[in-house]
Amino acid sequence: MNAYAIHRDPWVWEDPLSFKPEQFLNSSLDYQGNDFHYIPFGGGRRVCPTLNMASKINRFLLASLVHNFEWSLPNGMKSNELDMQDAFMAVLVKAVPLSVMPRAKFRNLNSSVCETR
Ligand code: HEM
Repeated sequence: MNAYAIHRDPWVWEDPLSFKPEQFLNSSLDYQGNDFHYIPFGGGRRVCPTLNMASKINRFLLASLVHNFEWSLPNGMKSNELDMQDAFMAVLVKAVPLSVMPRAKFRNLNSSVCETR
């Protein structure tokens, strides 16, 4: 199954090459392999075995980063100036690496030693 082509099919997706994550905000799309035009974890017998774990960890990781840090771009760059082009390697990566500056929101994260539990 060519997931790369399916996820870029203009018959299915409006403006498929644009980065528009907000299109999924109020979407009822299923990512568990039941909607065949949206298969980030594959589907059927070869579906990613960590689908449930990975989707929970992704949310937790993103929420932790947003909760604990103020993020900005270097040299006063604006978010709409980011180069979102991709490059095809073993997996798809950003052609220009993302460079961001985190600033800890809470005092205990400003110390050089961060404790984790
Ligand atoms: C957001 C995170 C992840 C995404 C989007 C993802 C996506 C995928 C996709 C698209 C496949 C191919 C499914 C197919 O062939 O139909 C796959 C397979 C697989 N994934 Fe993931 N994956 C993720 C995280 C992980 C993690 C964290 C692990 C291991 C700790 C993992 C282990 C595997 C394994 C072992 C397979 C092969 C399953 C098989 O061929 O039977 N994945 N994953």
